[in-house]
Amino acid sequence: MRVLCLGSMNLDYVYSVSHILAPGETISSTGRETFAGGKGLNQSVAAAKAGLPVFHAGLSGTGGELLLETLRENGVDVSFIRPVDALPGHTVIQVDEKGQNCILLYGGTNRQLTSDLIGDVLSQFGPEDFLLLQNEVNRLDEIIDRAHARGIRIVLNPSPFDQAVMACDLDKVSLFLVNEIEGAQISGCLAREPEKILDWFGAHYPNAEVVLTLGADGAWYSGNGVRHFQPAIPVTAVDTTAAGDTFTGYFLEGWSTGRGVEETLRRATRAASIAVSRKGAAPSIPLASELAD
Ligand code: RIB
Repeated sequence: MRVLCLGSMNLDYVYSVSHILAPGETISSTGRETFAGGKGLNQSVAAAKAGLPVFHAGLSGTGGELLLETLRENGVDVSFIRPVDALPGHTVIQVDEKGQNCILLYGGTNRQLTSDLIGDVLSQFGPEDFLLLQNEVNRLDEIIDRAHARGIRIVLNPSPFDQAVMACDLDKVSLFLVNEIEGAQISGCLAREPEKILDWFGAHYPNAEVVLTLGADGAWYSGNGVRHFQPAIPVTAVDTTAAGDTFTGYFLEGWSTGRGVEETLRRATRAASIAVSRKGAAPSIPLASELAD
């Protein structure tokens, strides 16, 4: 079993601010740091740190050496990443004094995936493998269709949510990982009614399993006739960036290796709580050995 992540890689330009800017407002930041990020890269790193064999695929752009180095350093195979002469994806992230963030995303090479690249990469994987996807790359619908045709099991974190997600044939997804906002957007239910969101997924995608994360309010799993809630671990937030990605990578490890739902949710929650207590995206993701279980 291998994990293929056909996902984004971003240079995260992180600005420390007293508060998140309001429209029309100008303030000075108290610091700027550059981190490797992108939901795809973060989830690849998290899954690899959790112990899975991970292959990351995509297009690396000019000046994106940090992204490749970060993947390599964390044990992710980068042989399916092609160089291209264009700007890589990047973000402008504000992090306030409470550790809350807001993210402005520039897609860059993440949104230049071609049919050829997708076909070449997927041809190397099959029914014994998992494909980990987010919504920061173009051609998401095509990737899902072609992976499913090859029997590859699809794990989708439809983040950031937009209409490209609804253009996909979501019947082909084996595992959804959504937060309450994405869950509400997909289902039409209210974000504050998590069990209704889970019911909706069960009714509309009966062959899929779903994880619904609620930030500081915990996380739900529902699937195969089982429903389980895991409370969050209280922690002083330094930077919430990549907490969800950390959860996803660790959940995938437990789910794909048969750890059982309760342990899997507990480990993913623990890993995310550690990520929240550290700065940056990929650098904040803990090693499995850091999870006292
Ligand atoms: O989920 C966190 C990530 O979202 C950041 O690393 C940023 O690059 C954005 O893609």
